[in-house]
Amino acid sequence: MLRERVEELDTRLKKNWGACQLCPIGFYATKHVLVEHVGFDDPYLQKIERCPLLFVGEAPGESEDVIGRPFVGKSGKLLRDSIDLLQETLSLKVPYSITNVVACRPCNGPNTANRQPDKKEMANCAPRLIDIVRTLDPVCVVALGHVAKLALEKANCHYGLHGVEFDEFYLNHPAYVLRSGGFGSETHKVFMQELSEALKLAEEYLENVHSS
Ligand code: URA
Repeated sequence: MLRERVEELDTRLKKNWGACQLCPIGFYATKHVLVEHVGFDDPYLQKIERCPLLFVGEAPGESEDVIGRPFVGKSGKLLRDSIDLLQETLSLKVPYSITNVVACRPCNGPNTANRQPDKKEMANCAPRLIDIVRTLDPVCVVALGHVAKLALEKANCHYGLHGVEFDEFYLNHPAYVLRSGGFGSETHKVFMQELSEALKLAEEYLENVHSS
């Protein structure tokens, strides 16, 4: 059952990656940001084997580094508000998980600006992402931005996600949506449309499980 595998995954990630210092950013990190699961406590989910929906972002920013959870800053608010609004509008209750390509805030030292993760950081953190994807066996994966898309492609080709099959959606990163006008903008409308497709597909899986 998914619920047991999730518990084991969280314990394993904490042990293996919770204090990782393979990269200098692991040394600078206030908190390593691993994975978060939303809506998994619902008792009606007892029967599910697969995670309906997994979001993969780029990397923790300042808020995530302090709080230790993915997508809790401004772009996280846009993402979570968008998911909540669609779930409410479409009467869905899809549980989902959120993680990032790397677990630590990419920067060039303490108190320096955020930057994109580099190739070495992405490669060092790839086994963590692969463990998450393999364990959750997601029905849909939403790559948020091109860094996540690239990391998932690499994970698939080079590191072996073989055997794990999912529908992949590629959405703009919420930070880009914010820069392009935020909630209600044309870019956000496209983001919502694509997000709704992923949610509906995840819901189909849940309906199939419950009707079987
Ligand atoms: N941007 C990301 O890609 N991930 C986060 O967790 C926060 C901001």
